[in-house]
Amino acid sequence: MEANIPKRKEPGKSLRIKVISMGNAEVGKSCIIKRYCEKRFVSKYLATIGIDYGVTKVQVRDREIKVNIFDMAGHPFFYEVRNEFYKDTQGVILVYDVGQKDSFDALDAWLAEMKQDLGPHGNMENIVFAVCANKIDCAKHRCVDESEGRLWAESKGFLYFETSAQTGEGISEMFQTFYVSIVDLCENGGKRPITNSSASFTKEQADSIHRIRSSKDSWDMLGVKPGASRDEVNKAYRKLAVLLHPDKCVAPGSEDAFKAVVNARTALLKNIK
Ligand code: GTP
Ligand code: MG
Repeated sequence: MEANIPKRKEPGKSLRIKVISMGNAEVGKSCIIKRYCEKRFVSKYLATIGIDYGVTKVQVRDREIKVNIFDMAGHPFFYEVRNEFYKDTQGVILVYDVGQKDSFDALDAWLAEMKQDLGPHGNMENIVFAVCANKIDCAKHRCVDESEGRLWAESKGFLYFETSAQTGEGISEMFQTFYVSIVDLCENGGKRPITNSSASFTKEQADSIHRIRSSKDSWDMLGVKPGASRDEVNKAYRKLAVLLHPDKCVAPGSEDAFKAVVNARTALLKNIK
């Protein structure tokens, strides 16, 4: 069996891979898989009990890929069942619901659960992650916007897709790119290929945008103490402006963050003598 890390360059040879789904309960993991494999959508919520398992075949370039899909239950109750299934995985479909901020905030905890179960010798760097911002058809309820999700995913070197299992939007594109990336990884000796997006902005830029988004007021946004002097405000502003200027920074959300910083500085300077 050519499991985990097959030898380099074996054109035409078949490949067997393991893929798992991860994310909070009810975000749409099973529906995404069903939409792709069975071309249908079920609107009634049928919680996955423990794990659902399926096998499918796909063609990537000249290789036939046999995909073992383990669709995990997101409910905390099934932790004991899930932790048996993290090892020997080449690809993870990591899903959140764009209308449920909790499910987005929980993504780090999902990575932590996987990391913990893989143990000290497990290597998350050799796994392809496809983040699905799901239920984009429910635009009215959306509370996690694209740039926020994309920033989180791309700053970790993960793939990012906007999906709807209901309409099918983004689903085929996600699976195709996901499988190609897994095959690239296998042909690259098990190392995740460096994506353009992950190399195009720094962690400092990503962290700053994230901090600016979640700041509670203008002082906080510029990273200065309330009551700071004009000089301190200007100094903090200049540093962020250089870091996030749209001509220099291509991180998702940088333009909005830059504008927010400009506005914060203007607002603060108005009130400082
Ligand atoms: P667990 O198995 O409990 O972990 O949940 P899950 O993540 O597998 O969720 P599931 O796929 O069962 O979907 C949960 C609910 O969301 C169902 O009622 C689905 O019909 C609905 N749903 C899933 N995807 C979409 C989507 O893209 N749009 C909309 N509007 N509803 C969706
Ligand atoms: Mg499910």
